[in-house]
Amino acid sequence: MQAPERLETYGHPIILIGLMGCGKTTVGKALSVLTGMPLLDTDAIIEEHSGRSIADIFQSFGEAHFRSMETALLRYLKQHPTPAIISTGGGIVVRAENRKLLHRLGFTVWLDVEVPALLARLARSTTRPLLNRPDRQEVLERLEAERRPLYAETANLALPSTHLDIHGAADCVYAAAKDFFALRS
Ligand code: S3P
Repeated sequence: MQAPERLETYGHPIILIGLMGCGKTTVGKALSVLTGMPLLDTDAIIEEHSGRSIADIFQSFGEAHFRSMETALLRYLKQHPTPAIISTGGGIVVRAENRKLLHRLGFTVWLDVEVPALLARLARSTTRPLLNRPDRQEVLERLEAERRPLYAETANLALPSTHLDIHGAADCVYAAAKDFFALRS
């Protein structure tokens, strides 16, 4: 990973979207180091503000309530744009309002990883309520089929990243962000 010249985002964030396990948080951390911009994680912010884990929110209030919390957070971020790397929860694109907000917020990148690679990466994960069941493969395949068009509609860039390592993906996003913000400025 090189240390390229400073990225100018004109006060806007770079947002990472994609299915659970696609690397939003790990690539986000690498991008944060590359750009010097802080990493914000929508799941972590929701957990901090509510004082509950995502699993607890799903169990106590249901998925629809969690989606409303995501929408409220995106509305806030749209009103208070900040130069940051934003890592999102995989289902944030399910709501049409969220897709619009994400598309307009800054530079939104879909880390597109194939399901077998996701399954391998998520093998030891116990914190994702939607995957706490034996038929993980079917669940992920269904989510992938449902959400693929939603990620495509939301993203400014779709990055096939099954075969990219963390730093390779971060370098690609960085280079694309430079072009995106240069054209928008
Ligand atoms: C979800 C993905 C999770 C988290 C919640 C729901 C989803 O985030 O927001 O468990 O609907 O795909 P990650 O994508 O960071 O695992």
